[in-house]
Amino acid sequence: MVARVVSLFLLGLIANIGLVHAGDFKALKGQTAVRVCADAHNLPYSNDKLEGFDNKIAELIAEELGIPVEYYWFPQRIGFSRNTIKKVDPKTGRFLCDVAMSIPAGPGRYLTTKPYFSSIDAMVYRSGEGFELNRISDIAKVKEEQGKELKIGLFDRATATEELLANGLTDQIEYYQFMAGDARVYPGRIVEDELAQGKVDVAFLWGPIASYYANHSDVPMTVVPLNELSEKYIFSFALGVRKQDKAWRDLLDNIMEARKDDIAAIIAEYKLPSLANVEPAKEKVRKAPYTIVDGKVDNKTYVGWRLFNSTCFVCHGSNATGTDVAPNLLISLKDMSSRAFRQKILGRYFATVNLDDPDRRMAFLEEVAEIDAAEFKMPTWDDEPNIRAHIGDLYAYLKARSDGALGEARPERLEEQ
Ligand code: HEC
Repeated sequence: MVARVVSLFLLGLIANIGLVHAGDFKALKGQTAVRVCADAHNLPYSNDKLEGFDNKIAELIAEELGIPVEYYWFPQRIGFSRNTIKKVDPKTGRFLCDVAMSIPAGPGRYLTTKPYFSSIDAMVYRSGEGFELNRISDIAKVKEEQGKELKIGLFDRATATEELLANGLTDQIEYYQFMAGDARVYPGRIVEDELAQGKVDVAFLWGPIASYYANHSDVPMTVVPLNELSEKYIFSFALGVRKQDKAWRDLLDNIMEARKDDIAAIIAEYKLPSLANVEPAKEKVRKAPYTIVDGKVDNKTYVGWRLFNSTCFVCHGSNATGTDVAPNLLISLKDMSSRAFRQKILGRYFATVNLDDPDRRMAFLEEVAEIDAAEFKMPTWDDEPNIRAHIGDLYAYLKARSDGALGEARPERLEEQ
C-alpha cells in the first residue's frame, strides 16, 4: 500500500514534468487564465467536451503561458463579439473573455493574429453509388450520361450557387436556410442527416465542416474541395482580441509562431480539404460595350460615332487620336471603365458650350484654335442633354475604336435589333 502511494506520487511528479512545459512565454500582468470566448457546440472548432481543434490550440497556448484555459460559451452567430469579448461582466468589472478563435483574418471587429488555417468550400457525396464527382459540372454529366438527377443540398448564398446555375442544375437544388438562433439548422446537419439518409445526393458546405461531418458519418462519404472556385474563395482564420489589446495579440502571435508545427499537426488531425491545385482566379472578362458583326455596328455604337463627329472631334481629332489641345482617346480608353469615362465627361472640366447653335459653335472653334494648349481644358458636358443621354454610346464607339474593333470611317449599321 505504501509502495503504491509512493509510486503514484512519483508518477504524478513525472507526469507534471511533462505537462508543465515551463512555458517560454510569460502571461500578461494580472492574467491568471487564457479566457477563451467559444461556442459549446461548433465542431470542428470547439465544443464543451473540448473536442475541437481550437480547444486543443487554446490548451497549447495556456501551456506556454503556464496558466489554465477558461471558457465563456456563447453560440458563434450574430452578436458573438458583442456578447462575449466586448462585454463587461457587471459583477467583476472585467470583460467576459479575452480571445476568440477561428476569426476571419484581417481587418474587422477584432485585432487579429496571423492566420493559422485556411480553407475553401467543399462538395460532399456518398461514396460508391456509381458516379464520381471532381467538379461541379460533373453533376450535369451524371445526368447526361447516366440519367441520374442528383439532388443538391445547398445553403442559401453558397459560393457554388452561380456555378450550379451556369451548369443548368437549378431544378436539382434543395435550399437550406440559416436561421439565426435556430440550433436545429447547423451546417453539419446537412451531411449528418440529409446526405447520410439519402434525402440529398450532394451537399455543398464550408470545407472544415464538410470534412468533419463526412469523416464522422457511418455512411462512407467523399469530400471534394471546390478548388475550381479559385483562390479568391480561400479564406484564412486567426485568433481575435479586442482592438486595444495589442500586447496580448503580439504575445499570441509569438506563441503561435513558436508552436506552428504543433498547431499544424493539430489541424491536420481534422483533415481539412486539401488546397493543393487551387485554380488561379479567372480574369474577369469585361463584356464589350459594343456589338460589331461583319464590320456593322449596333445602334449604340452608331450613335456614339455620330455624336463624336459632331462634337468631340473638334478637339480630339476626327480619328480620336488627339490634337495639340486634347489627348488621344484611343489610348485613354484602353483601361478606362465606363464609369470613369462618365465621370470625366460630366465632371471635372470648366467650360460649357452649346454645340447645337451654329454661331456658338463657330465661335467655339475659333476659341479653341486660339487658346494656349497648356491652359486648355475640356468643357464639362454636364448640362448638355444631348451628350448626357448618350455617354454610354460614346463609350461604346470609342471603346470599339480603342480595342481596334472599328476603324475611323463612318460605320454601317446592323439591321436593327
Ligand atoms: C474643347 C475641346 C474639347 C472637346 C470639344 C472635347 N474634349 Fe475631351 N478633352 C479635352 C481636353 C483638353 C482634355 C484633357 C483635359 C484634362 O486632362 O484636363 C480632354 C479629355 C477627355 C477625356 C479624358 C482623357 C483621359 O485620358 O483622361 C475624355 C474621355 C474625353 N475628353 C472625351 C471627350 C468626349 C467624349 C467629347 C465629346 C462629347 C470630348 N471629349 C470633347 C478637350 C475637349
